[in-house]
Amino acid sequence: MTNMSYLETAAKFYSEVAQTPQVGLCCVQSSPLQFPGLKIPPQMQEMNYGCGTTVHPAELGNEPTVLYVGVGGGLEALQFAYFSRRPSGIIAVDPVAAMREAAARNLAIASEKNSWFDRSFVEIREGDAFALPMPDASVDVVAQNCLFNIFEPADLAKALQEAFRVLKPGGRLLMSDPIATRPIPEHLRKDDRLRAMCLSGALTYQEYIQHLVDVGFGQVEIRARRPYRLLDCQNYNLEAPLLLESLDSVSFKVLMPEDGPCIFTGKTAIYTGVEEFFDDYAGHILQRGVPAAVCDKTAAKLGSLMPAEILVTNSTWHYTGGGCC
Ligand SMILES: C[S@@+](CC[C@H](N)C(=O)[O-])C[C@H]1O[C@@H](n2cnc3c(N)ncnc32)[C@H](O)[C@@H]1O
Repeated sequence: MTNMSYLETAAKFYSEVAQTPQVGLCCVQSSPLQFPGLKIPPQMQEMNYGCGTTVHPAELGNEPTVLYVGVGGGLEALQFAYFSRRPSGIIAVDPVAAMREAAARNLAIASEKNSWFDRSFVEIREGDAFALPMPDASVDVVAQNCLFNIFEPADLAKALQEAFRVLKPGGRLLMSDPIATRPIPEHLRKDDRLRAMCLSGALTYQEYIQHLVDVGFGQVEIRARRPYRLLDCQNYNLEAPLLLESLDSVSFKVLMPEDGPCIFTGKTAIYTGVEEFFDDYAGHILQRGVPAAVCDKTAAKLGSLMPAEILVTNSTWHYTGGGCC
């Protein structure tokens, strides 16, 4: 145990929980996302090891090819297949043999319960987040739920670069991960088992977003941010409790704007002046009294340009489109 790298500890841990499901390991809600006609086998539900959801129907038109990293019990692979009903529409990779076997078993059960689902829709491959078994620019969507948070920062950068590499231009990275409301102290960060359990590797919101921007995602949208777990003082040897949140996001492989990334967190800008509308001649026209969704960068610019006449609302941490950039 002592000579194991943290990634080996994680692989061992996931092999254990593939063979003996640990109900409630990571999830934040007891019933997973349901769709009409989708029947989730209980075996799959027990292995819901995601901390939010990465399945956003609005991103899944035209039967996209989805590369799913870290298959777990196959729950989200099945949910994605609901939208890509064709052989190998979903390619799910996982380095842990027991997890691949569990997912294959659960998906076979799902094919008996769901007349629309054919087992061939999800192809499970041995693979690793750091060397995805796919050519450059070959998939529409990459998704990962509650995996990248266990990676140390340099490995997280590698995994994000891989996701960016395999995405087609305009493709989307759908992620859900815990984030920390303040930096996690070193004694917890170096606890490999806690890290594998998604309890001690989380970055702060700013660090997490910066990693996405650093690999080149020009637009990031926050879909949800909610409480995930509380690390208490007694069990985690902390001076004050530390709240972890789960963050669902969609990152777009689009050109980085010259003035920096567009990060949408649900802010709006509202023109409150006397004219019919306000035009900043940089692509943003605000009708008087009508909230316009804006990215954080634009919100800051508009708010400082005319603070008396433009009201900027707070982040709702729930953004689903209709932006400014
Ligand atoms: C917390 S579970 C999440 C499972 C699934 N995404 C879900 O939402 O239920 C992490 C998954 O990532 C897999 N995994 C561990 N290390 C990995 C790596 N280096 N590359 C890809 N997957 C990995 C584990 O075997 C496990 O299936």
